[in-house]
Amino acid sequence: MKKIPIIIDCDPGHDDAIALVLALSDEKLDVKAITVVGGNQPVEKTGQNTLRILAILGKQVPVAFGTSTPLLVKPYHAQVHGESGLDGPKMPEPIQKQLDISAVELLAKTVEESNEPITLVPTGTLMNIAIFLLSYPHLKSKIKQISMMGGSAVSGCSGPGDVAEFNVWVDYHASHIVFHSGIPIIMHGYDVTNKAVIPYEHNEKFREHGKVGIFVADLLDFFGKPFRGHWPGTPIHDACAIAWLIAPEIFETKKVHVAIDLDGEWTYGATVVDFTGESGQSPNAEVVFDIDRDRFEEMLHSACKTYEEKERQL
Ligand code: BDR
Ligand code: CA
Repeated sequence: MKKIPIIIDCDPGHDDAIALVLALSDEKLDVKAITVVGGNQPVEKTGQNTLRILAILGKQVPVAFGTSTPLLVKPYHAQVHGESGLDGPKMPEPIQKQLDISAVELLAKTVEESNEPITLVPTGTLMNIAIFLLSYPHLKSKIKQISMMGGSAVSGCSGPGDVAEFNVWVDYHASHIVFHSGIPIIMHGYDVTNKAVIPYEHNEKFREHGKVGIFVADLLDFFGKPFRGHWPGTPIHDACAIAWLIAPEIFETKKVHVAIDLDGEWTYGATVVDFTGESGQSPNAEVVFDIDRDRFEEMLHSACKTYEEKERQL
């Protein structure tokens, strides 16, 4: 089977961790590199979290750390992932180190050396990706698409009045650069990711699938806490950007124009998603708005079972 070559740019993060579990288990994907960005916590922490996740999964992938500093505004970090950025599960020590080059350099090297166009999968803030696109404009043509988690048509979690989504909002100038890069963008925003939930009473079922299943259950237990009582389950935002590459048929999408509000006093960083075409602008993104939730949950189970099977063979 021909695999899809991808680079994941992440800021783990509980849902980033589950995205990695899925990506590194699936035979359809070839994870060429992982670049790490600051967002949920500064990059020193999200970087160590990435290396520790790889240790749990028993995988080795080239990893490089990037920036935590937005282009023009101050850094901001999320609270929901705890002090470490990955509170909850007991994490092992890393078994590999990050490379001695920056995330942007690793992006460039991997794209440059690839014989075929690469898919980028950002599941964090868009600073690394924007700097990469600005620094290596000649490599744009070697990027097939960007399947990203971020944005929202209707409601967010960041900025005054929560009108923006965190990943796009933290460095909304970087987000603007990415959305106007001309590269095909598949936007997995809250419209779909808030439907990609694991009901709380299903968490325990993951514990049946060995070490990685227990890891996923621990992630769900911690990350789900703030949502309990007012949401149907734990939203696994970032895993959507991976799941779409593996099984696009479980999603519904629409090609539309997406603008990032750059100077709204109260709405800066919001994604303005023109579902009705009123702006008259050509589509610059494929916005994902629905998911077959049951199939999504099945995918996560079968990912955990794949690791369990490998563990048994050792
Ligand atoms: C996004 O924000 C982060 O906290 C999550 O990891 C996800 O990427 C959801 O808004
Ligand atoms: Ca993330």
